[in-house]
Amino acid sequence: MKRKILFVCLGNICRSPAAEGLFVSLLQKKGILADFDVDSAGTGSWHVGNPADQRMVRAAKSRGVIIDSVARQIQTGDFFEFDYIITMDNDNLNTVLSMRKSLDKGAKAIIKSMLSFSSFKDFSEVPDPYYGGENGFNLVLDLLEDACIGLYDEISSSM
Ligand code: 4NP
Repeated sequence: MKRKILFVCLGNICRSPAAEGLFVSLLQKKGILADFDVDSAGTGSWHVGNPADQRMVRAAKSRGVIIDSVARQIQTGDFFEFDYIITMDNDNLNTVLSMRKSLDKGAKAIIKSMLSFSSFKDFSEVPDPYYGGENGFNLVLDLLEDACIGLYDEISSSM
């Protein structure tokens, strides 16, 4: 059975699409992408239907990573559909945890913060790059690339 992973941030145009693209890229390199469903969503609805922020798309492309997601908002069905819901910052985590409170036991998703898988000890959240410069996008990609390895190790050890 496929493992289903949903990455979540605020707008679903910067951090979670980058996490999705990087995780897909990691799985492709390992030749096991077909064993997974990988998606992303935002807690907010402002950017629903939009492609990812072009600054993030460009920064990822320069590392050979394709970001082609279209923004959507997280919905209650995601808690029943996905095995893991992985959040980028504390606000996303709190929103996702409070959404789950109202759901019954069939809401199986394991909810974790992306940087709980990080080896960068100076960061507990993936910083929002939206209002910053190019360096912010590269920092996000550095943090996510590293955390994807830890996330993969956790998931593969439970398969
Ligand atoms: P994301 O970044 O949560 O990483 O997609 C943001 C994108 C847009 C906004 C905030 C954060 N916004 O305020 O529109």
